[in-house]
Amino acid sequence: MGRVALVTGGTRGIGAAVCKALAAGGYTVAANYAGNDEAAAAFTAETGVPAFKWDVSDFSACKAGIAEVEAKLGPVEVLVNNAGITRDGMLHKMSPEQWHAVINTNLNSVFNMCRNVIEGMRERSFGRIVSISSINGQKGQMGQTNYSAAKAGEIGFSKALAQENARKGITVNVICPGYIGTEMVRAVPQDVLDKHVLPQIPLGRLGEPEEIARCVLFLVADEAGFITGSTITANGGQYLI
Ligand SMILES: NC(=O)c1ccc[n+]([C@@H]2O[C@H](COP(=O)([O-])OP(=O)(O)OC[C@H]3O[C@@H](n4cnc5c(N)ncnc54)[C@H](OP(=O)(O)O)[C@@H]3O)[C@@H](O)[C@H]2O)c1
Repeated sequence: MGRVALVTGGTRGIGAAVCKALAAGGYTVAANYAGNDEAAAAFTAETGVPAFKWDVSDFSACKAGIAEVEAKLGPVEVLVNNAGITRDGMLHKMSPEQWHAVINTNLNSVFNMCRNVIEGMRERSFGRIVSISSINGQKGQMGQTNYSAAKAGEIGFSKALAQENARKGITVNVICPGYIGTEMVRAVPQDVLDKHVLPQIPLGRLGEPEEIARCVLFLVADEAGFITGSTITANGGQYLI
């Protein structure tokens, strides 16, 4: 049995590609999801990866969900914080609900998950934590003050956590994807993609979920122990920092 890897939002999109890549790499994988039972069942039927339903924005649910995963599969050694949502709108029209939904699901979830695995990782002197942020956390995006704030927050959080745990064999890193062809991006109208998104990407195309999964696999490897507090961008050249 390989190391146990838990991927939040692992049943669709980028998370599903990450789960498949980890399973192919010999990890024992668990996928978390929020509520789309149909997609989760199809994902498990296709991959054999078990799916666990809980809301990552709820601290107690994360604690209980992680305990369930660990009872079934063993201690979580690799955590991929991937679950995320968008609730776009210009700030002058944004409701408190839109703001809090995105901050809770995309940023507070990272605290909820990390807090509930970090003590075990420290005791075992090994851990790999990777959070999926976004290009829009690096450069900001009109209509996404909530999302940009949450995604930028993940980067600062990870740099601090990396320093706290460097001596404990735990690495903490971030991946910032550009526009990837998942349902989240396919929800953007095609004419907006054609006129406003694709012309900004030097590669001239959307990224593939598998291209992000490849970055995750690189960072969680035992051999990647010297890489911590880093941010990998995978955005087709759209934003270079
Ligand atoms: N797609 C892109 O271009 C892009 C670019 C940059 C960054 N990202 C980031 O990459 C991550 C994945 O994006 P995606 O496009 O693959 O998303 P997606 O296709 O919409 O899938 C989202 C996944 O997250 C789960 N999820 C959502 N809210 C949750 C909650 N409260 N608790 C537990 N699970 C929850 C969903 O579960 P259900 O199936 O149950 O709803 C689903 O499995 C996100 O953090 C996103 O911000 C995406």
